[in-house]
Amino acid sequence: MRLGVNIDHVATIREARKTFEPSVLEAAFIAKRAGAHQITMHLREDRRHIKDEDVRLVRTLVEIPLNLEMAPTEEIKAIALEVKPQRVTLVPEKRQEITTEGGLDILSNIDYLKSYIKDFKENQIEVSFFIDPDLEQVEASKFAGADAIELHTGRFAESFHKRDFRLLEEEKDRLRKAATLARELGLNVYAGHGITYQNIHLVLDLKELIEELNIGHSIISNAVLFGLEEAVKKMLDIIS
Ligand code: PXP
Repeated sequence: MRLGVNIDHVATIREARKTFEPSVLEAAFIAKRAGAHQITMHLREDRRHIKDEDVRLVRTLVEIPLNLEMAPTEEIKAIALEVKPQRVTLVPEKRQEITTEGGLDILSNIDYLKSYIKDFKENQIEVSFFIDPDLEQVEASKFAGADAIELHTGRFAESFHKRDFRLLEEEKDRLRKAATLARELGLNVYAGHGITYQNIHLVLDLKELIEELNIGHSIISNAVLFGLEEAVKKMLDIIS
């Protein structure tokens, strides 16, 4: 199973001070060096973390595929067509949300999405829709012309961390059914959101069906903790 590393929250830390560190580009190089198969970044309309320049730099300088998460708006599309990532993942976006809260509703927006993605297809950019593990949404994704779907594992992850094992089984079943149908329809199948060292083994049960995971918050959180000792020691070395 491939791993896409979402580096948005490196930028979240940078934006806490609106300064130059930590470097998003450096983070992408490190993820690549560690063996990541892809860099994932979400250029939000409010630019709360990743900025246009981050996307341009990573696309130009880091030699692994870039998966650009984006809301299906004209403004972001113009940037995506200029940057030409290997893949765009269309996600819903609400200004007030802390993170992407649910999947994109393809079913209610088929005509819009069908015509929205034409430019990407003409530019050989893979189009993925971030959807809830819902059979109707999978079928609608195929109908709208997606190449791939990314299944939203947020509810699955939440039920794991709340120890709601009944809901967890239900969610896993939904993921399995949605992934199976998507593959039957010839779609590439990815998944992501809320995956941690603790819950990933349950997603790996579906590794025959899911080709790739996109993981962000947990990896960046662990990077902060694993790297803290070295960072403190380095500052003490300089002081002494
Ligand atoms: N996939 C998509 C489409 C997302 O929107 C996000 C969150 O930005 C992720 C994966 C990664 O989720 P997390 O940060 O919880 O690992």
